[in-house]
Amino acid sequence: MRLLGASLLLAGANFFAHFAHAVDMEQKKPIPISLAELYQDQFDIGAAIKSEHLDETFRRQIFLGSFGRLTAEYEMKWGQIFKENRYDFSAADKLMDFARDYGIKVTGHTLVWHIDHPVRLFENAKGGKIGKAELRQRMRQHIFTTMNHFQGVVDNWDVVNEAISDKEGEVYRRSEFYQIYGDQSYIVDAFRFARQADPNMELWYNDYMLEHSDKLEKLQEFIRYMKQQRVDLAGIGFQGHYSLEWPTIDMIEKAFQLVIKEGLKIKVSELDVTVYNDYLDGVFQPEPEKACDAPLLAKQAQRYRELFELFRKYKDHIAHVTFWGLTDETSWLNGVVKGREDCPLLFDKSGRAKPAYHAISQFK
Ligand code: XIL
Repeated sequence: MRLLGASLLLAGANFFAHFAHAVDMEQKKPIPISLAELYQDQFDIGAAIKSEHLDETFRRQIFLGSFGRLTAEYEMKWGQIFKENRYDFSAADKLMDFARDYGIKVTGHTLVWHIDHPVRLFENAKGGKIGKAELRQRMRQHIFTTMNHFQGVVDNWDVVNEAISDKEGEVYRRSEFYQIYGDQSYIVDAFRFARQADPNMELWYNDYMLEHSDKLEKLQEFIRYMKQQRVDLAGIGFQGHYSLEWPTIDMIEKAFQLVIKEGLKIKVSELDVTVYNDYLDGVFQPEPEKACDAPLLAKQAQRYRELFELFRKYKDHIAHVTFWGLTDETSWLNGVVKGREDCPLLFDKSGRAKPAYHAISQFK
């Protein structure tokens, strides 16, 4: 009896924890309603997380208090789950257990990417380059193994990430996948294998800066190619690594409209708003450190407000909006320039909800 009581209590704790709300420490009171709940009639709201974050109660609380969907920030990537010639899913599984316990939806990120793959992915045993048939086989094996492993938890996969080129006049990135295949048909193979591995899975293409006019034209070309190859594509993931100024709302809207016209869904998969403007005329010229003070945070809040106005306008086409991290302290953008701190997310270093949080949670 006592045992039963204890387990019921535990189950209850889990159940209620999902609805425990984040704390706005400035106002020293709980944020009245979670973002995921607020937006439940519009689209899912998620965040990228690392398994180590689950060891810290305050991060678990922030997650559970605000988000209903999760992406592994890096622990599902090929180079992370396949090391020293074997698969090890333990870190990702920690995230999956958390998701299962609290009824959080999970986005799979990512199966084929030119970064973070096994060190010897493109090599044979003698250290020479493998050919197309071998790469095809390795991709097939990886996609089947990974999708099977996460079956039942992940509900949509970023099958291919960042295959479109940033170079002028070049549609597809000349990654090693491209070079070994001799063309972009590795993308088609990746999607076909994913479809074979799970006939019902939502399969997505994910990329950054698609709002840039050159890249948008390439996206159009990419979609044409996918259709011509009869690839079953659910939609396009816009990473959403934005700055205070770039891209303009009009540019994002134009990109959304193109995807909608093509009959595809949209997701904003890696949203953050850096306070730095490091690219002048497309050249990387990092700005010196700024204080994330009240005027800057107000500007950022306004930017987030406008972004979410746009997202709500397109709610019928947007499946999810996922933030790339939980608090400013652990944002990947802190690594862009050594020693420089950014503050691109909704919660500050100590987990306090920032003005941006309030800006997107107050709407009619
Ligand atoms: C980044 C993660 O945030 C880092 O922790 C990791 O070391 C490198 O990758 N586009 C993507 C993401 O699709 O997977 C990247 O994530 C950020 C850019």
